[in-house]
Amino acid sequence: MPRETLSAATHYHESAMSLFEREEVFTDILTDLQRQGWSVQDNVFSSEFIQALMAEAQGIESTNMLQAGIGRQQDHQLSLNARRDTIQWIDGDRPIRRDFLNAMEALRLALNRRLFLGLFDYEAHFARYEAGAFYEKHVDAFHGRSNRVLSTVLYLNQDWQQQDGGELVLYDERDSEHELGRFLPQQGRLAIFLSEAFPHQVLPAKRTRHSIAGWFRVNNSTGQFVDPDQ
Ligand code: OGA
Ligand code: MN
Repeated sequence: MPRETLSAATHYHESAMSLFEREEVFTDILTDLQRQGWSVQDNVFSSEFIQALMAEAQGIESTNMLQAGIGRQQDHQLSLNARRDTIQWIDGDRPIRRDFLNAMEALRLALNRRLFLGLFDYEAHFARYEAGAFYEKHVDAFHGRSNRVLSTVLYLNQDWQQQDGGELVLYDERDSEHELGRFLPQQGRLAIFLSEAFPHQVLPAKRTRHSIAGWFRVNNSTGQFVDPDQ
């Protein structure tokens, strides 16, 4: 490999890692995923970075957000999949967004190295739940019908209180009535779980709730079905 390429690659890796708050965060996520298929971690990113992401989320005019799709509703076996959030897909057109995608790229590489998941890429959108908004119980991918393997949700609101609602409720993959946990959308918290395995929902938020939802995907060629969020 030419020297320039090598040093560019090294520099890129270091800068993506520097966005994370803790070095062990990958180890914690990978261990949880291996053991139970899901992980919820706090203080994943540096506080400067998460605050910049929050400012970016808040700065999006609501007229530039899309009503999130409920596509494929007739196919859903678990629930109505009704939702009331608005979204904006993320690409690398602004530095803060590119930094976020670079950070998740570093996570993707770690997941592939350690868990051999063969993750091919990552897609993500900002999501905004205004007061009263929710997302009914659903799964993010259906067996054989999607290339989504791992779902991620990064929460952006500062000082989110119990009375603000908006919890993520995660359910057991074997018993979709059994709750694994309820998680407040606290700033810097990252939820990550196998997209096909874990039903989940968002309880009604009592104030505006900001997050970034994303999916690591494999590159299968059975892409004749459209993902629900698109
Ligand atoms: C989703 C989703 C959960 C959350 O966007 O598919 O389930 O806590 N989000 O925002
Ligand atoms: Mn979901």
